[in-house]
Amino acid sequence: MKKLFIANWKAAITANEAQRFMAAFKNPRPSAAEVFIAPPAIMITSLGAKSSLPIAAQDVSVFENGAFTGEITAQALAEAGVKYCLVGHSERRIYFGETDARIALKIQRLQAGGITPILCFGETELERKTKKTLAVIRRQLSILKRFKDAHNIILAYEPVWAISSFQKTKVKKSASDIEIEAMHTLIKGILAKMLGSQSAKMKLLYGGSVNPENSKNFINFESVDGVLVGAASLKTDSFSAIIKNLK
Ligand code: PGA
Repeated sequence: MKKLFIANWKAAITANEAQRFMAAFKNPRPSAAEVFIAPPAIMITSLGAKSSLPIAAQDVSVFENGAFTGEITAQALAEAGVKYCLVGHSERRIYFGETDARIALKIQRLQAGGITPILCFGETELERKTKKTLAVIRRQLSILKRFKDAHNIILAYEPVWAISSFQKTKVKKSASDIEIEAMHTLIKGILAKMLGSQSAKMKLLYGGSVNPENSKNFINFESVDGVLVGAASLKTDSFSAIIKNLK
């Protein structure tokens, strides 16, 4: 199975920068790596028209359609050619009050529109310190039980304390190889209990300050099916270097 590399550009790129990235980027390991780009929504159509890489959305409305100013529906994304969409990213949970219930509704809308959800989950620093990590992860994943085709959902474990945007100090934190391996093995166990044998087919990505240096080993772990990359995906050099870490 190819490993999946997703560039999550958040709102950290302009349309000109995005065009330049797309013109310069070439997947350095096409036989081993699949690459998706998740640009700001306004760039989906223009980038998608020129790129052979699948374009993912970063969010979707909970509403099916109607008078909801500012929203982008799953149907609109599907018509724009979107095949994948992030849901439940920690920045949306923290800054926009996204709850598990809303995330479940978004998954439902995406599946109805034929779009594969990429469900992001992970514990905060406080939850980790107070030993609530597993309880939190079980809760965040429990919404999967509502979907009969849950095995089609892509998962991204992103410990909030390791995500670059939440790190206000100079000393950056990232999860160690040992922590990533241990968490991915645990999460795959939780999924097997929750969803049965179908969970074996699910892709579990890792995210949180992934860069060319810290991903050298863990990207090759069997338990890691790929990565969701924020800051280091904004430049072609660093994003390509992460992919090149595949052995
Ligand atoms: P980061 O972002 O790589 O900048 O930590 C990852 C993410 O939030 O998806």
